[in-house]
Amino acid sequence: MSTIRDVAKLAGVSVATVSRVLNKSGYVNKETERAVKEAIDLLQYVPNTVARGLAIKRMETIALVVPDISNPFFAELGRAAEDIARTYGYSIILCNSDNEMDKEQSYITMLKKRYVDGILFATSTLRTADVNMMNSANIPLVVLDRAPREGTCYVVRSKNYDGARLAVQHLLDEGCKKIAHIYGPQAAPTAMERLQGYEAIAKEQNWYSPSLMADGGFNIKGGMEAVAQLLERHPDIDGIFAGNDLMAVGALKQLQRMGKSIPDQIKLCGFDGIELSQITEPEITTIAQPIYNMGALATRLLIKKIEGVQIEEQNYEFDVELIVRGSTRRERGS
Ligand code: RIB
Repeated sequence: MSTIRDVAKLAGVSVATVSRVLNKSGYVNKETERAVKEAIDLLQYVPNTVARGLAIKRMETIALVVPDISNPFFAELGRAAEDIARTYGYSIILCNSDNEMDKEQSYITMLKKRYVDGILFATSTLRTADVNMMNSANIPLVVLDRAPREGTCYVVRSKNYDGARLAVQHLLDEGCKKIAHIYGPQAAPTAMERLQGYEAIAKEQNWYSPSLMADGGFNIKGGMEAVAQLLERHPDIDGIFAGNDLMAVGALKQLQRMGKSIPDQIKLCGFDGIELSQITEPEITTIAQPIYNMGALATRLLIKKIEGVQIEEQNYEFDVELIVRGSTRRERGS
């Protein structure tokens, strides 16, 4: 394996000159640059990325920390982040925190050791102290989707509260007389905002009761268990708003197991707009988030911050969209 010294010797220059050619930093005349590049080709020299990164103070690598790698929502975020990072010459490291703070702390340590140039956090266990520490240490970060409760950093999310209201209003418009809500982990600001959006409308109805809400954990199994609990408490429920599509898929499975006809007996609405909501029968009405655009914008913001480009706006909030399908309105001809 050739080293940078072998290249310098063959090209008849110093190691520092080879380093300047590799890092495109400092002046090198054309003749010398050509000699160095010829030596690199002849020796098939590959720079050591870590050493190169330390030289230019950038690893050209960013990390995306997600709370649940098995949830397709985060896979779509990762898809966008990877696409955009590559266009700027950056690699992505995908980290799964399993919603655990100590795992997240290990990733922050990795960043502090400069193994990555910046982190996209899509988790809800990021502490304000961590955000403030990274800001004061000028360590680039962007919080994506689940914004910290306070602390100043770049935030990209969607309008969860408005989206929840849209879902409940749609169920009312479709004739529902008693609507339940399956909520996600309350540590996730997104889940909390959606629950608040549900209550903003539900509390005005004469059927409202806190027992019309159940925890579904943002996963399929949780959605199934929550539906069983809710129908046990309130057999006359005729509408359900699930705080994400995975819980809506679980709810649909449980309702069909219980012999319920969807949407005739119970109408169901999810949240996210992941592909899975389109492969069920009936397909699930959902509040779609612009997942790819959220991931793309957050990655662009992070790379601009890494490269020292000043960005005025800190908070970015995307609109969401109601996508009506067969779980709330019978398809024509079905
Ligand atoms: O499905 C996972 C949920 O967690 C999504 O709704 C997303 O907004 C995240 O907060």
